[in-house]
Amino acid sequence: MKTEIFEKTDEFVLKKAANAIKSGGLVAFPTETVYGLGANALMEDAAKKVYAAKGRPSDNPLIIHLAKASDAEKYCFTSDVFYRLASAFMPGPLTVIMPKKDTIPYGVTGGLDTVAVRVPSHPIAHHLIELSGCPIAAPSANISGRPSCTSFEHVVEDMDGRIDMIIGGGESEIGLESTIVSIVDADHLKLLRPGKITLEMLENEGFDVSIDKAVTEKLSDGEKPLAPGMKYRHYAPRAEVVLLSGDDEAVEKYMLSFTDDDSVAYICFNEYERIKDLKNAKIVGSELDLETQGRRIFEILREFDTTPSIKTIFAKLPPKEGIGLAIFNRMLKAAGYRVIQL
Ligand code: TXA
Ligand code: MG
Repeated sequence: MKTEIFEKTDEFVLKKAANAIKSGGLVAFPTETVYGLGANALMEDAAKKVYAAKGRPSDNPLIIHLAKASDAEKYCFTSDVFYRLASAFMPGPLTVIMPKKDTIPYGVTGGLDTVAVRVPSHPIAHHLIELSGCPIAAPSANISGRPSCTSFEHVVEDMDGRIDMIIGGGESEIGLESTIVSIVDADHLKLLRPGKITLEMLENEGFDVSIDKAVTEKLSDGEKPLAPGMKYRHYAPRAEVVLLSGDDEAVEKYMLSFTDDDSVAYICFNEYERIKDLKNAKIVGSELDLETQGRRIFEILREFDTTPSIKTIFAKLPPKEGIGLAIFNRMLKAAGYRVIQL
């Protein structure tokens, strides 16, 4: 398939992209979290094409993207809790799971009776949804199992030749996919995937929040995460990622013991003076700057894929507080849960 590629998205490109979505085509587009691979959420056949383009298992449901929160009425059974969350966090990087209405085909929800709803704040995403006149079902625009795409170039790398159009919007501002919650009752939420909207921010809105086990632990065979996507090996570069748990002194010392080995690489902080200038080291930011780490982590995991001689990547296990929990979750999955306690 010939993919039409536009690095800059102006009014003309947006209209063309909206027409493609309307008529059942696939368009990759920027959002504030990561790039999405969009299709008309009201057309089951369009959703099927998304799964094929990504190589994604068909039981893994898609998020529908809306121009405004009140549009959710048309597609799911909303509640006061939804509107409380919407007034605090939408538009923005929060996805809420609710019982679906018949307007949304099962081909979009992986056969589930619920649907995931998000209202992106990125102006290109917002205008694309408005112009298309339909909800846009969009998973992250990466090939299934690879790190999510946080730049136009990454999308071209993964999707050129597989979809109708790619429209650019520079680097993703957040770099981690949206926070996903399901509503338990008027006071309780369940966190299915952590993101920029943190557990603490949800608690500050007066909710009790429990964390789905799949966020921080490997599930045993037969156990099911609440977000089906959380069970797949994800975000993984070709090399094996190994996380190191311990204080900085111990982590740096451990990393230094491999410097003769060219097949070993490091994800390190600005503060790791003895590591950061090594050939195979990549700096993810300052240790204290979790936002920058979040923005850079997928890009770094992808960069390592361009050096096939690298077989092992060491990184420090992130903290679980604030946006750290989202980075912790993505790194743990990239590492296939391999953690060395130092
Ligand atoms: O930031 C984001 O959310 C990005 C951008 C493009 O908006 N999208 C994204 O989509 O990350 P995706 O498909 O890569 O991840 C969606 C996750 C999956 O883990 C999926 O299992 C879960 O959301 N999900 C979708 N619908 C669900 C539902 N009805 N119930 C439970 N989990 C659901
Ligand atoms: Mg994804």
